[in-house]
Amino acid sequence: VTCSAEAKTVVIGLAADSGCGKSTFMRRLTSVFGGAAEPPKGGNPDSNTLISDTTTVICLDDYHSLDRTGRKEKGVTALDPRANNFDLMYEQVKALKDGVAVDKPIYNHVTGLLDPPELIRPPKILVIEGLHPMFDPRVRELLDFSIYLDISDEVKFAWKIQRDMAERGHSLESIKASIEARKPDFDAYIDPQKQHADAVVEVLPTQLIPDDNEGKVLRVRLIMKEGLKHFSPVYLFDEGSTISWIPCGRKLTCSYPGIKFAYAPDTYYSNEVSVLEMDGQFDRLDELIYVESHLSNLSTKFYGEVTQQMLKHSDFPGSNNGTGLFQTIVGLKIRDLYEQIVAERAAAVAEAAKV
Ligand code: ADP
Ligand code: G6P
Repeated sequence: VTCSAEAKTVVIGLAADSGCGKSTFMRRLTSVFGGAAEPPKGGNPDSNTLISDTTTVICLDDYHSLDRTGRKEKGVTALDPRANNFDLMYEQVKALKDGVAVDKPIYNHVTGLLDPPELIRPPKILVIEGLHPMFDPRVRELLDFSIYLDISDEVKFAWKIQRDMAERGHSLESIKASIEARKPDFDAYIDPQKQHADAVVEVLPTQLIPDDNEGKVLRVRLIMKEGLKHFSPVYLFDEGSTISWIPCGRKLTCSYPGIKFAYAPDTYYSNEVSVLEMDGQFDRLDELIYVESHLSNLSTKFYGEVTQQMLKHSDFPGSNNGTGLFQTIVGLKIRDLYEQIVAERAAAVAEAAKV
């Protein structure tokens, strides 16, 4: 039986501006599912897609309706909905969710042109990552879980400088100018999507160092929606309480400026949420087990799994702070959500077979 109830694809949306850590997040997520994701074999070397045993990650830049020249001529940025084909995005995500393969276009980031399409088969888990996964209400409706990476301007700037100056030879002025030029469209079309997200990872400058503007030490907040069917928030010490915790001392080595955790209920765009926060960074990643042992509802399969994942990818950016920790935790929650959905479908199929 093709297209059986069990075969239905689980769809995850990951929204963020470019250069904000989406690919790092995806590498952590696919690792939780037990396999590294790789570009399709024998295809276009400029394909943006990543495929593992369970998961296919597609980049929504592939739904640009205007190529680089077209955008320039019309004076619109890639962030502008008019540069994107939401009808096609909806059709293809829906088809994949229903178990039907699609010929997805490829936006070539090297040439700025649209390349001939590639065949995408329905995976167990489809991740759509990019600028607009929660923009179109029809696409949003298809998402089983959605995440927004909310990088504050200060931190975004620090990361861009690091990458574009060091690796791409851009000047400080040109980086500033490109961030400024994107800002109006970012505020109009990208940022508002966070109100729809089931989980938001906010990345802010530290509050542990007065007037810090280096952007190296980070304060990271994981905002988790309450009341979802397949997702129950992680908590610190006791569910629903308000906690401030400095774990540094006998069991955790902390150099200046230390580490501070917080946990509390809150509202976010009139939704009830739980917020877990970490400010500062770990000196010794293996000691993370001490923090892990105080967190509950992590959806791990064994004691220490968070720490193990973090140690395994200690070379990824953000491994010593809340960005890596919370990305790993969200990965575990998505695995849990996936397993719950699959189990429910299997139960429904078994039930139907009885009748
Ligand atoms: P995207 O896929 O959204 O473009 P990447 O995951 O490739 O983003 O990250 C882009 C760059 O941003 C990285 O090369 C790194 O310099 C910086 N970066 C991303 N995540 C972090 C992090 N958690 N901590 C520090 N720097 C980061
Ligand atoms: C992609 C990225 C955008 C980026 C664009 C470059 O679409 O996702 O974030 O702005 O490429 O566009 P440009 O018009 O500068 O080539």
